Amino acid sequence: MNKPLLQIALDQTSLSGALSVTRSLANEVDVLEAGTILCAAEGAPNVVAALRALYPASIILADLKVADAGSVLAEMVFSRGATWMTVICAAPLATMTSAKTVADAYNGDIQIELYGEWTFSQAEEWLAAGITQAIYHRGRDAQAAGQTWGEADLGKIRKLADMGFAVSATGGLSPADIQLFAGIPVKCFIAGRSLSDAPDPAEEARAFRREIEKYWQS
Ligand code: 5RP
Repeated sequence: MNKPLLQIALDQTSLSGALSVTRSLANEVDVLEAGTILCAAEGAPNVVAALRALYPASIILADLKVADAGSVLAEMVFSRGATWMTVICAAPLATMTSAKTVADAYNGDIQIELYGEWTFSQAEEWLAAGITQAIYHRGRDAQAAGQTWGEADLGKIRKLADMGFAVSATGGLSPADIQLFAGIPVKCFIAGRSLSDAPDPAEEARAFRREIEKYWQS
């Protein structure tokens, strides 16, 4: 089982604020996420281009949670240097495949963002369409309303992985949560506020790494 990657979700409301977080974390994480909030505040193409200019070798995710106009939005971010882009699970398959066609042309990929209602039979269709990455998400509003990580979530992540998806997990994660996922082949743990709001973000990233090392050996 491959060791999960670590991703910082940049959900600041200004590019300057996000770049200040990135400066302290770029060497500690594997993936830089242009978060939905940041993309809405500053424009996704601008954010992706700024990150790509500063971090030419990094994996950069544009978290647009695309629901329609898949190819147009994909072109906007992949042409600026994105590696991955998210498409919401509620989007029509046509949106997913049109975004994926653009991603493929740039040697990138799309990730299906799993919120709310979706089914495993839809997931079979995504796989059949050549889509292999998914993000299992506890939304920040759901978290604020009291939703916690539970066996039902972990079972769904496990099942998606068994189907062949590379599954990332996110939503209010802290280092203490990592043990919940032990034994599941998680592709990437995505953390936003727990890293950027920590008194020492780099040390918090290392705390995530230490937890990952405890439960995933290779
Ligand atoms: C919100 C997101 C966030 O980027 C993701 O949930 C990670 O942020 P946090 O760890 O702060 O919850 O996609 O829609």
